[in-house]
Amino acid sequence: MEIQQLKQRFGIIGNSPKLNHALAIAERVASTDLSVLITGESGVGKEVFSKIIHQLSTRKHEPFIAVNTGAIPEGTIDSELFGHKKGAFTGASDNRKGYFETVNGGTIFLDEIGEMPIGTQARLLRVLESGEFIRVGDSEVQKTDVRIIAATNVDLLKKVREGKFREDLYFRLNTVPINVPPLRERREDIYLLFRKFATDFAERYRSVPVNLTEDAQLLLSGYRFPGNIRELKNIAEQVSVLTQHDTVTADELRIILPVQPTAMIVAPEQEGIDEREILYKMLFEMKHDLNNIKSYLWTSGHQAAFEGGQMSKPELIQQEDIQPMPSAPAIPAVSYPKREQYFMNPPSENQPVILSNSDTVYEVDSFEESLSIAEMEKELIQKALTKHKGRRKKAALDLGISERTLYRKIKEYDIDG
Ligand SMILES: Nc1ncnc2c1ncn2[C@@H]1O[C@H](COP(=O)(O)OP(=O)(O)O)[C@@H](O)[C@H]1O
Ligand SMILES: [Mg+2]
Repeated sequence: MEIQQLKQRFGIIGNSPKLNHALAIAERVASTDLSVLITGESGVGKEVFSKIIHQLSTRKHEPFIAVNTGAIPEGTIDSELFGHKKGAFTGASDNRKGYFETVNGGTIFLDEIGEMPIGTQARLLRVLESGEFIRVGDSEVQKTDVRIIAATNVDLLKKVREGKFREDLYFRLNTVPINVPPLRERREDIYLLFRKFATDFAERYRSVPVNLTEDAQLLLSGYRFPGNIRELKNIAEQVSVLTQHDTVTADELRIILPVQPTAMIVAPEQEGIDEREILYKMLFEMKHDLNNIKSYLWTSGHQAAFEGGQMSKPELIQQEDIQPMPSAPAIPAVSYPKREQYFMNPPSENQPVILSNSDTVYEVDSFEESLSIAEMEKELIQKALTKHKGRRKKAALDLGISERTLYRKIKEYDIDG
């Protein structure tokens, strides 16, 4: 199959050589029965790859199951995978089939294989070598024909060296390795993906997909994307929700991009920075963010928030406000290139977003106040809706947010309206 055709069929966006290479291997290995080990950071598309391989294999009409090895408690994983016999352990009131029995003939995707307990690894190796397994608490050896696709976002060889992963299993699984590259190694795909997610979003909400100006595209492609495609999708949706117009500038995007402490930056050219300098920078930015929120609440007449001594009045802060400790050594001046903001953490889900009457949007990072801010926001929305007898258009106008945003907030906070 042509690689472009394959992408179309499975909704794969991107055209970077590394992605194409990984897809080509996936296609070639699909029709064999070999085990496949897919490596790559979280959110790069490992699970998507596993489905492609299954769909292109002779097993495509047989079952496929994705098992997140890391999410199953150590005490139950053997039973989940291989089944158990009645009475095998407390609570085993019946015989139970495991995935290796129910998926017989099909494919099992074992995600986060590096988290698999050593005992389970031994059972898995046996299946891979002979197709044999035994239910927990049973003595009867059973046969199964299952293809294994495993995935990991950790360095399995390191686990092998640490004695946490069986070397023989590693080699057995690694017959055909596929590495799915992180987004920052295929920057040319970033805007393509952004457009796809913005278009999907617009279709869902019957609006126009957002564009980015050239500068904004550069800013986006320069972002580090620790959460890869999953994070990009999240960002594209946030941008779609938060912007009032169709084209977003770099300045607007900068505000929407997860405001991670720039301090977390470890760009190659900055590796020598004094850690203390990084901490000051981080503290300053946190203080700055906090103050922005305070100002918003203060100026919008939500002074109630400041009652009870929970929050102090916003103050003007200057970079100089955060002084090095007296004993700190002199800190070299470091300039932080604006465009190169590299962030370490993906945005947390349900990150509260404060909307002001101006066009400025402040992202709130997780810190103690965020919960009460979310609650206040919910309350505000409820009040506005009551005031306008549930008329969203008027309520949105009153709140100074778009109807689209109001709609999303209503859903997010589960407000009846
Ligand atoms: N090349 C791609 N084009 C479009 N969407 C993709 C692509 N790769 C992954 N995705 C989407 O990105 C998200 C994360 O993919 P997933 O396979 O779950 O990543 P992983 O298993 O590596 O954590 C999913 O929503 C998936 O549909
Ligand atoms: Mg995954």
